[in-house]
Amino acid sequence: MRERTLGSLTTSALGLGCMSMSGMYGPADETEGIATIHAALDAGITLLDTGDFYGMGHNEMLIRDALRDRDRDQVTISVKFGALRGPGQIWAGYDGRPAAVRNFLAYSLRRLGTDHIDVYRMARVDPAVPIEDTIGAIAEMVQAGHVRHIGLSEAGPEAIRRAAAVHPIVDLQIEYSLLSRGIEQEILPVCRELGIGITAYGVLSRGLLSGHWTRDRQVGADDFRARGPRFQGENLDHNLALVEALRGVAESRGVSVAQAAIAWVLARGEDIVPLVGARTRERLNEALGALDVAFTEEDLAAVEQAVPAGAAAGDRYPTAQMAHLDSER
Ligand SMILES: NC(=O)c1ccc[n+]([C@@H]2O[C@H](COP(=O)([O-])OP(=O)(O)OC[C@H]3O[C@@H](n4cnc5c(N)ncnc54)[C@H](OP(=O)(O)O)[C@@H]3O)[C@@H](O)[C@H]2O)c1
Repeated sequence: MRERTLGSLTTSALGLGCMSMSGMYGPADETEGIATIHAALDAGITLLDTGDFYGMGHNEMLIRDALRDRDRDQVTISVKFGALRGPGQIWAGYDGRPAAVRNFLAYSLRRLGTDHIDVYRMARVDPAVPIEDTIGAIAEMVQAGHVRHIGLSEAGPEAIRRAAAVHPIVDLQIEYSLLSRGIEQEILPVCRELGIGITAYGVLSRGLLSGHWTRDRQVGADDFRARGPRFQGENLDHNLALVEALRGVAESRGVSVAQAAIAWVLARGEDIVPLVGARTRERLNEALGALDVAFTEEDLAAVEQAVPAGAAAGDRYPTAQMAHLDSER
């Protein structure tokens, strides 16, 4: 497995995002989730991404179980915290106060069955708390040995600079794909200036850009995609037409749509690590194939002609969730 560098952290060139193994995209099979994590580790993936709110702790406990007979020190665990939940799948905002940071961290360490988290990051910038306070609290946990590195998630340029002034930041986790290129104008240059890497999520636009999504696919009410603006009505028709154009380019190069989409993100820079959100071994194997795709400049131009920048229809989150994205201000 090739490696990439995120700030002072070296990881595998692809990471595995474990979110969909804990219900965020409808029901998932636990046994298959663990088998997928094992297959990823066996293939050389060292970066596992989770959030304490994915399945309200379920995802962290799944990772703990998957790592039970593995060498913990070979794995980089990235954890997002800060989202407030409530009974009945309620989402209730974010909390970045220092006391909350320590509380979230203590529970995560317990659920993960580990004494340290490799990369710890607030899932969303909390506008009610100066980011210096949140990052300062994580920095204290670094000093105490409970956290190794600090990351950010969906932060905008100003927050990135303010955070980096408090403590070195290894990476910004943010949506980046052929359908979501918003970081290219301002955010990516700021990260590069400050030596901060990118862990790119949604590289398949949550499955929309995988080549496997169809107009008639049914999703349950508890699946994020049931509310995702890009998956609705005319937006979906428009976006699936882009996917078909990409399919033409991918097939002419002998790769799948998902592999083309992941390979495009991989080609955007050595400081970018795509997080693939596979929850089955079959999907993971397809994603791993992206590492063998050697696109020429001409191939990349053909991919971008099929899916031009800004071509996606619909926001990347429902309106209420867009409001939480510091990166979109
Ligand atoms: N920081 C943040 O705000 C944030 C937000 C979202 C996610 N994340 C992290 O990023 C990770 C990835 O995000 P994502 O779920 O949006 O990723 P994604 O890779 O864009 O979408 C993953 C979904 O695409 C479908 N898919 C189809 N073919 C696939 C293939 N070959 N390989 C992988 N997936 C395929 C699967 O859905 P089906 O199984 O239904 O086919 C899968 O659940 C998450 O697990 C999470 O750790 C972070």
